[in-house]
Amino acid sequence: MGSVTVLDHPLIKHKLTFIRDKNTGSKEFRELVKEVSMLMAYEVTRDLALEEIEIETPVSKMKSEVIAGKKLGLVPILRAGLGMVDGMLNLLPAAKVGHIGLYRDPETFKPVEYYCKLPQDIDERDLIVLDPMLATGGSAVAAIQFLKDRGANHIKLMNLIAAPEGVEAVRKAHPDVDIYVASIDEKLNEHAYIVPGLGDAGDRLFGTK
Ligand code: PRP
Ligand code: URA
Repeated sequence: MGSVTVLDHPLIKHKLTFIRDKNTGSKEFRELVKEVSMLMAYEVTRDLALEEIEIETPVSKMKSEVIAGKKLGLVPILRAGLGMVDGMLNLLPAAKVGHIGLYRDPETFKPVEYYCKLPQDIDERDLIVLDPMLATGGSAVAAIQFLKDRGANHIKLMNLIAAPEGVEAVRKAHPDVDIYVASIDEKLNEHAYIVPGLGDAGDRLFGTK
């Protein structure tokens, strides 16, 4: 069974408080989502393989470790996942980025697909699916299935805030996927919004509504 890791570093907790605050405007919200994503990238990539190369310091020769060149792919779920891409790319500049467009039908809460563009070699890449919100889990389950149908076999999921229902849904549908979140909140409300959550992530990022 895949792991569920709650990244409760003080810096992440601090920034998440202001992301949640309804008085935080889009500009600051975007900056904070980027910063938290960058901090989370540190932990999500903890298991990257290393290899030794030989270098020379000003004092002597030595063998020292570098990342082994594993191919990575970031897959934001549009729209809100876009807010997490830049922070991740700051630390993983060589990663390729694929996009999956899904929106949640407001009546059924089921995901509706409207866009997909992925790197050709996703079967060779370690993929990290990005979405600030894991609510019912419908969008994440569909996005991960979509990637698997196209050959992906190493997938992690990274969210800022999850509901317990969403975590369970992903674990049930995709037990091989490791989940990384900054917080698991209390519950979903009758509109399938996360409580207390942060509201509508896409609207807050892009100033729509
Ligand atoms: C939000 C969010 C997730 C989804 C989570 O997107 O970014 O993709 O809802 O809900 P779920 O776990 O119940 O599927 P939304 O559908 O609002 O689309 P948007 O990003 O385009 O605003
Ligand atoms: N999508 C969001 O943007 N927020 C929620 O709380 C649930 C789904």
